Amino acid sequence: MSLPSLLLVGCGKMGGALWQGWLEQGVAPSVILDRSCAAPPAPHRLARTASEIPADFKPDIIILAVKPAGMEEALASLRPFLDGAIIISMLAARTIDSLRAACGDAASTKIVRAMPNTPAAIGKGVTGVVSQDLDADGRTLCTALLSAVGDVAWVESETQLEALTPISGCGPAYVFLLAELLEKEALRVGLPAETARLIARGTVSGAGALIAASDEESATLRKNVTSPNGVTARALDVLMAPEAWPETMTRAVDQAMARAEEMAS
Ligand SMILES: NC(=O)c1ccc[n+]([C@@H]2O[C@H](COP(=O)([O-])OP(=O)(O)OC[C@H]3O[C@@H](n4cnc5c(N)ncnc54)[C@H](OP(=O)(O)O)[C@@H]3O)[C@@H](O)[C@H]2O)c1
Repeated sequence: MSLPSLLLVGCGKMGGALWQGWLEQGVAPSVILDRSCAAPPAPHRLARTASEIPADFKPDIIILAVKPAGMEEALASLRPFLDGAIIISMLAARTIDSLRAACGDAASTKIVRAMPNTPAAIGKGVTGVVSQDLDADGRTLCTALLSAVGDVAWVESETQLEALTPISGCGPAYVFLLAELLEKEALRVGLPAETARLIARGTVSGAGALIAASDEESATLRKNVTSPNGVTARALDVLMAPEAWPETMTRAVDQAMARAEEMAS
């Protein structure tokens, strides 16, 4: 990939994870704008304010990774650098229209909205992406940059992007809950605390790693470890009863979606 000229705005948890991923891939932002992150090692240039960015710097891509409430301030300070740039916004719940308005409606600014999830912090995230402004090369470039923090899934519309929230956005919390409940059950059936913790966490992370390493459908992996009329089958009869996990998951996803809609209105 030929290296685009990159401006990373916000090098906190998410921006820092992207930056780390890029460094590992040999891609580095030309300039990082962050008022409080630790200074990156040379040759990376750190600007504490937009006024410290060289006036002749022309970023091809601006990655916006500040808190959603900081969007207007950040984009207002970046007006001289927006023309012709692709802006990749990592901001939750900030629409393409609101991003475009905060850019001063510069017609030549291309907007990309990306929605990562928390495992991005260790390069294992899933990032949904949407944009109507890019050609095939632009999409390839964005995919390459965002894959620094995990898998990338392009969607067709912002409605589809919002639909990721109760799945990949909240999903890590559902999986952490599973680990919590398994640990609690391990204690209940008489295992010592340290063992309970080890086996619950190891089971969740090991099963996750197995899914990641396999091309099989999740259902196939489940069937592969379920002997007919065996021990796992007996447990799954409880969990897979329609009113158990299937309906509970549907209700949880519906509630998460409803809350996201309330928060957006
Ligand atoms: N963390 C996640 O797992 C996650 C998941 C999904 C989406 N996101 C999205 O990612 C975005 C960033 O979240 P985060 O958790 O990485 O935030 P963060 O850790 O607070 O990082 C933001 C950084 O940007 C700096 N900053 C903000 N406005 C600035 C400005 N105008 N000029 C210079 N520096 C500025 C902040 O400095 P100060 O602290 O001094 O303000 C901070 O160092 C959010 O919009 C969030 O919705 C994050």
